[in-house]
Amino acid sequence: MSDAKNAPFYITTPIYYVNGEPHIGHAYTSLAVDTMARWHRMLGHETYFLTGTDEHGQKIEQSARQAGISPIEQANRFSAPFRALTDLLDLSNDDFIRTTEPRHQTVVQDVWQRMVAAGDIYSDTYSGWYSVGDEAYFTEDELVDGKAPSGHTVEWMEEQSFFFRLSKYGPALLTHLEDNPTFVRPKTRYNEIKRFIESGLNDISVSRSAFDWGIPVPDEDGHVIYVWVDALSNYISALGGPDGEKFGTFWPSAVHVIGKDILRFHAVYWPCFLMSAGLPLPQQIYAHGWWTHDSVKMSKTLGNVVDPVEMVAKYGADAFRYFLLREITFGTDGDFSERALESRYGGDLANNYGNLANRTLGMLGRYHDGKVPARGEGAAIDDELRATVTVARADLIAAMDRFAFQKALVAIWTIADAGNKYIADTAPWVLAKQGNQARLDEVLYTLCETLRILGIWTQPFLPNKAPALLSQLNVPADALGFESTAEWGGFASGTQTNPPEALFPRLDLKKPVEAAPKQGKAPKPPKQKKKEPIVTETTETTEPSYIQFEDFAKVELRSAKIIAAEPHPNADRLLKLTVDAGEENHRTVCAGIAAAYTPEELVGKTVILVANLKPRKLRGVMSEGMLLAGGEGENVHLTTLPGDLPPGTQIT
Ligand code: ME8
Ligand code: MG
Repeated sequence: MSDAKNAPFYITTPIYYVNGEPHIGHAYTSLAVDTMARWHRMLGHETYFLTGTDEHGQKIEQSARQAGISPIEQANRFSAPFRALTDLLDLSNDDFIRTTEPRHQTVVQDVWQRMVAAGDIYSDTYSGWYSVGDEAYFTEDELVDGKAPSGHTVEWMEEQSFFFRLSKYGPALLTHLEDNPTFVRPKTRYNEIKRFIESGLNDISVSRSAFDWGIPVPDEDGHVIYVWVDALSNYISALGGPDGEKFGTFWPSAVHVIGKDILRFHAVYWPCFLMSAGLPLPQQIYAHGWWTHDSVKMSKTLGNVVDPVEMVAKYGADAFRYFLLREITFGTDGDFSERALESRYGGDLANNYGNLANRTLGMLGRYHDGKVPARGEGAAIDDELRATVTVARADLIAAMDRFAFQKALVAIWTIADAGNKYIADTAPWVLAKQGNQARLDEVLYTLCETLRILGIWTQPFLPNKAPALLSQLNVPADALGFESTAEWGGFASGTQTNPPEALFPRLDLKKPVEAAPKQGKAPKPPKQKKKEPIVTETTETTEPSYIQFEDFAKVELRSAKIIAAEPHPNADRLLKLTVDAGEENHRTVCAGIAAAYTPEELVGKTVILVANLKPRKLRGVMSEGMLLAGGEGENVHLTTLPGDLPPGTQIT
């Protein structure tokens, strides 16, 4: 890949089968590709991002038959939700291709004719096993317990068909791999493919005659082109085919991102088809890992498929994107857990990223009328923060070069961490109290500049929240490129910023975080909603504030025994407890500890009750007091007392 400004960059997702709704696995590939596309655009590269649907073949024909509809109705029905991923996940794809479109069919037939002209297509009888689920042929010894390695069932097939001389291209492909060590990535996949080619390639059947849902073989009645020849050609048909203008610009820079399930088709078949057709090979094939759900393989029969629509409704597209790219190394398998997503939301996004923005803009408003101050001389601690930014920038570039999204996010978040620490260390509120305006200005400038850089770097990852932050900062539209962070000090003094608005508001898991996903290039900042707090949540702080001893003395702490416990009717995170605090009547207390405790194990425990807290409704249930606890989420621990302490004992 060329580093030159305006260098073309072409990146693709697989085209997805229209035999079901998209799930988290499809969403994952698409949002990873989107992030990479946005990264390249931010670098100034001329970027083209393609996705789409794979609509022909026996698998789709069978799904349609089972649904009692025609194959094209089937394709229309399920292509739509894949197209809708663009809005849902804020994908910036430049095109969406369907293999039933005429523009695609002509290119597939052209590729076929080129392979015929090269002498690589011949007629023979195929007999062997076929897996409709994989749309792939298997030899007897490739089967595992009588099934395809994927677990799909196979059927015996015997039909006259056209073959492609795959065997002819093995040596050339091997040489290509040796000359291009990054042709297949990650390295484990490269090695796997190399071994496979070294073991010798067999010719493959590339036409079917038992059904007709496909692109006709030119000049041969009764044959349709094998669905993988058809599907793989989408990557060039979307560019207008070998003679298309876009082909000339983009094809040499192509990167195919796929799951490891379809590696062989992309890293062996596709390059051989291209060589036969006399066309150049793509730059790179990147195969990522496989997601399971709570450690179980996702499948429709198990009913444990993670629905991206539901996740986005609950957490917003940005948090969902952040989680999937932050949680695991791109290339290895991962396990999806909603708890882990919630914890990333509350931690990395709300408390770290959101809080830095909120505190910085809040203090800037309070101490400098919201205007970015002049940049001063600075102190050693400022240099330290700047050094962190410099290191993070280099790490970010290196990581993105290798599709290491997780490392990239870790690098970016070092500056969010450092920014929050810098606030604690410099204590701007103390400087304000001391009237040290000169130093306060320097500190505020350093924070604003850190936040600007953070906003710019996160654009590819958080396509809604990063622009929202940048618009709170009032960074001009022509200064959003990566190069505007090449040097410290790019934030223009005197810029009038806007008051902070929470970027990642507290989750109210009953309601969607964001309404509909936004459309267009410049998303609006999110609407802030007032949320009812849950007992165990920490609150965002701007500066420490002290209370007097008399204030603390007002708090009445008493021992209380838990008599009964049940789930809260309206909030998954809350338990509804009945406690005996040594009074005439028992009290009801709602506590945000459902992730850590079952109701059963709580009964009989003696805990500490804040007894004179004004009663208030939590999600519809009146809560009369609060229990002391430490930690968050799954790791919350109730403070307990020895059981022989009578209920109602005052705690001092
Ligand atoms: O294979 N974890 O389409 P497909 C991670 N039409 N990624 C996953 C996943 C999971 N659990 N499940 C699916 C096809 N994916 C062909 C492709 S391309 C010319 C033709 C993602 O609908 C991953 O990218 O079965 C995988 O390769 C792809 O969806 C398979 O989608
Ligand atoms: Mg599949």
